[in-house]
Amino acid sequence: MIFASFSLPYGVLMSHTLFLLVFALVCSRDARAQVADGSITVDEGGTTILPCKLTQKLSENDNVEQISWQRKTKGKPKLDNFFTITKDDARLVNGPDRRFKFIGAFAEHNGTLKLSNASVLDTGIYSCVFSIFPSGYPTIKIELTVRVPQRRSVESTQPTLGNKEVPLATCTASGFKPPASISWQTDDGLKDKVRWTNSSTLQISDTTTTVSTLFGKPTKEINRNKVQCVISFEGQNKTLDFEIQIYCE
Ligand SMILES: *[C@@H]1O[C@H](CO)[C@@H](O)[C@H](O)[C@H]1NC(C)=O
Ligand SMILES: *[C@@H]1O[C@H](CO)[C@@H](O)[C@H](O)[C@H]1NC(C)=O
Ligand SMILES: *[C@@H]1O[C@H](CO)[C@@H](O)[C@H](O)[C@H]1NC(C)=O
Ligand SMILES: *[C@@H]1O[C@H](CO)[C@@H](O)[C@H](O)[C@H]1NC(C)=O
Repeated sequence: MIFASFSLPYGVLMSHTLFLLVFALVCSRDARAQVADGSITVDEGGTTILPCKLTQKLSENDNVEQISWQRKTKGKPKLDNFFTITKDDARLVNGPDRRFKFIGAFAEHNGTLKLSNASVLDTGIYSCVFSIFPSGYPTIKIELTVRVPQRRSVESTQPTLGNKEVPLATCTASGFKPPASISWQTDDGLKDKVRWTNSSTLQISDTTTTVSTLFGKPTKEINRNKVQCVISFEGQNKTLDFEIQIYCE
């Protein structure tokens, strides 16, 4: 559900576009401005629509002069006017960003944008402001959340035959909050021959990437041994099977 609300009193009757824009900024901080239930969640790297359609009936005198988009996001924490749509033109205001495209129709009072390759920095509040002369500035707000999906993987480090301890494999768990923890399971015969370390990195998305590296001597004996990477998160274990591969030089 998306709200539209007229939040300006009548009487600010100045048609200069710049003034309208500045006033719209002030207006959007109005305590009566509503944050919509219009909330959208998209995975990092995904594409989403930011819908914006004026539903109020306009009076005969009303003229939609402009649709402008504002945002306040992780990446742009200060209110940022970033897209302006008029009868003749639809453009980004503050520097290029090809990920945003206008797909609405000005004549139908539809200011819908498409955002592709979403980043966690895009998470925040988006406002679509209609500048209508003389009646006001109905505003539609959308709360966008860009999610980092949980991913688990195990990979060979392609060790070559030798007698010195080297990394044999890495196991990675990303997109977790709180952090996932990683351990390895081996047959009894292998237990004394391997060890592992792990590291966790907090990402800008507020989730953690944990990487565990399995170490051992890359000998013939351990070649083709089966191990399991166990990723634990909130009491649940997921096991990834892995077969150690030692390469000849
Ligand atoms: C607004 O435009 C978008 C993109 O073309 C379209 O999908 C949507 O249906 C339109 N909204 C309305 C209410 O017509
Ligand atoms: C998507 O955005 C990321 C940065 O957030 C960039 O590294 C990547 O190249 C972009 N991918 C495409 C297909 O544009
Ligand atoms: C990291 O590895 C050590 C052993 O090297 C282990 O004691 C610890 O619990 C591990 N931590 C996580 C978060 O997996
Ligand atoms: C999950 O794996 C850890 C580490 O291997 C183990 O200590 C724990 O008992 C397992 N928990 C469950 C529910 O299987």
